[in-house]
Amino acid sequence: MKMRKQIVAGNWKMNNNLSQTEALIDALKSKSQASNAEVMVAPTFTNLYHASQALHGTTIEVIAQNMHFAENGAYTGEVSASMLKSIGVKTVILGHSERREYFNETDDLLAKKVDAALANDLRVIFCFGEELADRKSGNQDAIVEAQLKNALFHLEGEAFKNIVLAYEPVWAIGTGETATPEQAQDMHAFIRKTLAGTYGDDVANDMTILYGGSVKPANAQEIFSKPDVDGGLIGGAALKADDFFAIVNAF
Ligand code: 13P
Repeated sequence: MKMRKQIVAGNWKMNNNLSQTEALIDALKSKSQASNAEVMVAPTFTNLYHASQALHGTTIEVIAQNMHFAENGAYTGEVSASMLKSIGVKTVILGHSERREYFNETDDLLAKKVDAALANDLRVIFCFGEELADRKSGNQDAIVEAQLKNALFHLEGEAFKNIVLAYEPVWAIGTGETATPEQAQDMHAFIRKTLAGTYGDDVANDMTILYGGSVKPANAQEIFSKPDVDGGLIGGAALKADDFFAIVNAF
């Protein structure tokens, strides 16, 4: 068994209205967990309070998909860290490639969001990953290194205790095309080496690094078996309780 904390998190993205969310939560509650992984689900903001109440006292943590960096104020349509905390949310996903692509989230903005989350004692699942063109040109390591350095490397080493990294190659998200287990392992090892270079081996070896991008029951076990892969961030397959728990139990 791996010593690092293992996590399987379902990112529900902009899916499921309230009754669909209730049905999915009921289905998740009926499953039994046969792995040591921490299990999390990220509903939309409108369903977050309901989900955090409905899953209270279970082993499934309810987390947020995004937040704003400001504490409050004139930011129509946004939600702050303290608002998330007030409904019992303790973890937030930041930097998802869909936020970067469709909502113009830059490394600089993400650095501010990370700071705000950590200042509010929220744990951050920080997402990053290269696009297909970067992979084709062999630039994936440089892109990933820049994403990490620009948004996170102003932090003290201690701060990384509250950060989980999620490597999600953009070309593998929602496409059915998964990185091979070897591609995932190579990148995760590179990420750990990059962390070690700045923060030392302890920070690097303790860091939980998730893989995301078309993880399914059929491929989860092989991906999770790689030494530097500590779990997964699951999109489409997290919307079906059976598939999600098959992935959770793949550890
Ligand atoms: P898919 O599992 O649908 O490819 O999505 C991955 C993802 O973006 C999780 O955040």
